Amino acid sequence: MSKWFKIEHKGFTLWFTGLSCSGKTILADAVAEELRKRGMKVERLDGDVVRKSLTRDLGFSDEDRRMNIERVTFVAKLLTRNGVAVLASFISPFNDIRAYSRNEIGEFVLVYVKCSLQACEERDVKGMYAKARAGEIKNFTGLDSPFEEPDSADIVVETDKQTVEESKKIILDTLNEMGYLP
Ligand code: ADX
Repeated sequence: MSKWFKIEHKGFTLWFTGLSCSGKTILADAVAEELRKRGMKVERLDGDVVRKSLTRDLGFSDEDRRMNIERVTFVAKLLTRNGVAVLASFISPFNDIRAYSRNEIGEFVLVYVKCSLQACEERDVKGMYAKARAGEIKNFTGLDSPFEEPDSADIVVETDKQTVEESKKIILDTLNEMGYLP
């Protein structure tokens, strides 16, 4: 315990949903850095990382995506109730599974990282859209696997129209208004 005082804050999960290459990871990392600067306890859960460990047995069928999000939700729930600010970035393409996460976690803020499929495909950071177009990857989100537009987003950022800094500010301002920042 610090000699003077300890900054306390309520745990919550900031959940980023959006297409592949929409900017979920970069935004979640940027917000995480800001929260750490404020002395908050922060943890990141990211699809590409989690799928190499906790959910490495899962693929990309609708059923496996649901299982992926269920397991991650379990972890986010434990962290959240222990006062951690959890930043989770997953495509999480279905409204029912996002609603499940909200229901389980409670202190849950959904960020829709909105970006047109065309812009995501132009970015194609990992070359996966090209592979999916060539038929080398099946069930690719936005192409032959659906992405449902969120019906209950708390925050919407448009990464094909805003800079990372602009989107980050919108998220931080909203968290502040919601009373989640110390
Ligand atoms: S989710 O649908 O289950 O939420 P998640 O966010 O964990 O997906 O993983 C998405 C990442 O897996 C993408 O960033 C991409 O690198 C990789 N990936 C591999 N195959 C696919 C696919 N068929 N559809 C979407 N992403 C895929």
